[in-house]
Amino acid sequence: MSPSYDFSHKVVCVTGAGRGIGLAIASAFAEAGARVCVNDIDAESALRAASDLSATGSDVFAFPADVADPARVSAMFGAIDQRWDQIDVLVNNAGIEPVHSLFDHPLSDWRRTLDVNLTGPFLCTQHAARRMRDRGGGVILNIASIAGKSQPLYLRSAYAASKAGLVGFTKEAAREFAPYGIRVNAVCPGVIVTPMTEHLREDAAQMARWRGEIPLARLGEAEEVAALCLWLASDAASYVTGVAWHVDGGKNMA
Ligand SMILES: NC(=O)c1ccc[n+]([C@@H]2O[C@H](COP(=O)([O-])OP(=O)(O)OC[C@H]3O[C@@H](n4cnc5c(N)ncnc54)[C@H](O)[C@@H]3O)[C@@H](O)[C@H]2O)c1
Repeated sequence: MSPSYDFSHKVVCVTGAGRGIGLAIASAFAEAGARVCVNDIDAESALRAASDLSATGSDVFAFPADVADPARVSAMFGAIDQRWDQIDVLVNNAGIEPVHSLFDHPLSDWRRTLDVNLTGPFLCTQHAARRMRDRGGGVILNIASIAGKSQPLYLRSAYAASKAGLVGFTKEAAREFAPYGIRVNAVCPGVIVTPMTEHLREDAAQMARWRGEIPLARLGEAEEVAALCLWLASDAASYVTGVAWHVDGGKNMA
């Protein structure tokens, strides 16, 4: 994707950026000139992503960490301070999607999903927002899902609850941070082609159903989610905060 925006004076942190949507978002910001911290719990993919982006001339570093671990999140923002002493954009993208029937959903998986998908963004937001407040502004983007709005999936109760929580958290944060020049928006993808949806895409009947339900009649690409993130983080969206944006081919028009 060719950069449409200039982020050359900006520092961006993207969680879960070792692959999939997070990697597309980190790549788009790097292409637009940003300095990028690439976080992922999977150290190998974080290091590979950072090395690939650095090879194209971008100023990027990897910080492997579990976003649900307060000490590691604190260390990550400490590392960003040390390297750039600046944070302008935080993208809370890291997420997991366990599949269980509610009848026998393991409590451990329920808690882990809320920890990663909701507590992780809370922790990262706190660290980023304190710094953004001191610098006079910033942008926080929370990658939620249409599953957290009006489009329930199936056998994904913890995921839907965490993403609905993230949409509510987004609005509350937008309200509280607005006086400090910090804008907060949620991005709600539909079905996007990434490793997370690989097992679903192998199901031909499911794919046919989706195509029938999606007005644009195809799944989305990670780069299409990244394009919305770039716009939301840019000054072109300077009057936009507290909104949960769909990027889903028209599947969810509510
Ligand atoms: N793919 C879709 O169709 C879709 C739809 C709606 C929302 N989303 C959301 O978009 C985000 C990215 O999804 P994706 O499809 O790229 O998923 P993915 O599974 O392909 O990638 C997720 C990345 O997050 C990392 N991660 C997982 N737990 C982490 C943790 N605790 N700390 C740090 N990193 C962690 C993983 O290692 C992985 O690299 C997720 O929040 C997901 O819920 C995806």
